Amino acid sequence: MNNTRLNISLGTLPLKNPLICGSGEHLIEEAGILKALEFGAAAVVAKSTNESELARRQLDRTDYSIVGQDLKQQDWRKDKGLNTSLFGRSGLMDTDSKEWLSTIARLDGKARKYHSYVVASLIPASMSFLIEHAEIAQKLGIRVLEINIGAPHGIEASRDIRLTFDPKKANETIREVRKVFHGHLWAKTTGMSESISQLAFASKEAGADAVVMMGRMMALIPNLDSMMPVLGTKGAYGGRWALPITCRWLSESRHLLGSKYPLIGTNGARDGYDIARMMLAGATAVEQTSAIFTGGFEVIKENIKQLEGYLKEKEMNALDLIGITSDQVQSYAEQELRPGYWRQFVSDDALNKK
Ligand SMILES: Cc1cc2nc3c(=O)[nH]c(=O)nc-3n(C[C@H](O)[C@H](O)[C@H](O)COP(=O)(O)O)c2cc1C
Repeated sequence: MNNTRLNISLGTLPLKNPLICGSGEHLIEEAGILKALEFGAAAVVAKSTNESELARRQLDRTDYSIVGQDLKQQDWRKDKGLNTSLFGRSGLMDTDSKEWLSTIARLDGKARKYHSYVVASLIPASMSFLIEHAEIAQKLGIRVLEINIGAPHGIEASRDIRLTFDPKKANETIREVRKVFHGHLWAKTTGMSESISQLAFASKEAGADAVVMMGRMMALIPNLDSMMPVLGTKGAYGGRWALPITCRWLSESRHLLGSKYPLIGTNGARDGYDIARMMLAGATAVEQTSAIFTGGFEVIKENIKQLEGYLKEKEMNALDLIGITSDQVQSYAEQELRPGYWRQFVSDDALNKK
């Protein structure tokens, strides 16, 4: 059922609500993509692909762990609270990329029935593959293409998953794709940079219709008992703790790129209220992955319901949320001068006795 309160527009792309199911392992098989559509996601980003045999084989070396606030591994089946983090190493689609794009095109056709989209996702390895496959996506009639220029695993597998930190390089990459793909083009940036807004700006200038921000962080978690690294390696790390950092970048980017340009938030949004938080910071829509990967597809329905409840309570439409908080951010210099105020925050021992 269409609920106009939730409708938003990502530039010229209408979305029935702001929840996008972000790319991950639960979207490797058709069943998962269809479930995400059924449960009401406005768009579903299929698992990413590229030509690299190593990145493909990496799918057989993946592992995932839920980590609590005490930094201990928790039971995958039981502990999926809002305050846990997801740590892991991922790989890319293990089927042939052309075949995968054909499947996505077919599923994108099915998505029309749900007033939704199935988005293809390419992670650059070589430029020639990227362009060839963007062209294929165009020929197949895929309506939305996401280019992830910031996959965190690129740090560990640099030749096979190209991670772009340089805005000039981001511009070149997106510009080349733009020449051959005429549907909606989204660029997804890294979260491990002080140039996230510049990467977004460069992608906008190159012709991206929206920018998705931001990728997860690479991390290492020592296990105190074994003294070994959790999962034996470094891995990508994300949790709700990342939401305020994503919100900061959404806000910075809104100011740099302009309030009309659509940003998509990702990294840290766990429930429907978190979708609202990212929208208040400047996102038009939000990609949720970990919450759905670990919690199942019902999470989509629950989160949309929560967002709708919040909007009803505030007597607002989703569209009206975008950027409200961001537009009221003041500089440090604008804050009230309060000499000695800091004294209230330190223990008595830290203060010179009078
Ligand atoms: C297990 C796992 C696999 C992922 N695979 C992909 C992928 O293939 N392509 C991609 O662009 N992002 C991938 N991501 C990143 C997510 O789409 C998302 O941007 C990120 O996890 C932050 O959002 P979240 O806090 O909602 O999880 C993956 C994330 C996880 C946890």
